[in-house]
Amino acid sequence: MKGAILAGGKGSRLYPLTYATNKHLLPVFDKPMIYYPIQTLVSAGITEIIIVTGGPHAGDFLHVLKNGEDFGVDHIEYAYQEAEGGIAEALKLCEDFVGKDSVTVILGDNCTDADIKDEVKRFSKGSVVFLKEVPDPQRFGVPVFDKVDKSRIVRIDEKPKSPTNNYAVTGLYIYDNKVFDYIKMNKPSDRGELEITDVNNRYINDGKMSWSELQGFWSDAGTFESLYRTNVFWTKKKLGQDQEKKLTNF
Ligand code: G1P
Repeated sequence: MKGAILAGGKGSRLYPLTYATNKHLLPVFDKPMIYYPIQTLVSAGITEIIIVTGGPHAGDFLHVLKNGEDFGVDHIEYAYQEAEGGIAEALKLCEDFVGKDSVTVILGDNCTDADIKDEVKRFSKGSVVFLKEVPDPQRFGVPVFDKVDKSRIVRIDEKPKSPTNNYAVTGLYIYDNKVFDYIKMNKPSDRGELEITDVNNRYINDGKMSWSELQGFWSDAGTFESLYRTNVFWTKKKLGQDQEKKLTNF
């Protein structure tokens, strides 16, 4: 199993912070954001990792991650995404690196303390999406469950105005090699991107998708609110609740 961390984009929702560096290198408590998805992969036993990045600060990753040794990564590669062509376009750049293997994909701003080791170990074919209940599902891809067999996803809606439940499709996925064929079938969406949700819907139509609920904390960190929330969680987790309270008790 290979790992891919997608960390491109301009991070425009976080301007002016991202004038200085790439979003995924901004601090989350005591570490750059991208340390957290790396940790998620390494903890699951995935030590061959590709980082897809882009934008004006792509070179900053080398200074921070170097050859990956500090994180227990055996092999690290970098790919450069020229334009903001979407998550599926970023994943397409990983095709040679993944080769005949499967790939666990995580978005570089997805910070979780959940353990995905079992799902990675069990995986052989098809795809797995990881879900998490959130208060604002309209910001995410949302699964639509079968009316009879509630454990079956029949479709994923990208950022629906009226979500049918509170689950978000997180930016954490496991795919077999077919993912690259599906990406090639994709057409750009209204926002001009190759959407990962279209890829996931192809797996669903082929009956090749399962899902798992992340146990623990999960948040993306791409907006000021979610970046703050993610910082508070990791500060509490690492310092302890009482110590964090003292810090914020002005
Ligand atoms: C992307 C995906 C969306 C998913 C989210 C998770 O959204 O398109 O389905 O729920 O990541 O972080 P984006 O961050 O590109 O708006």
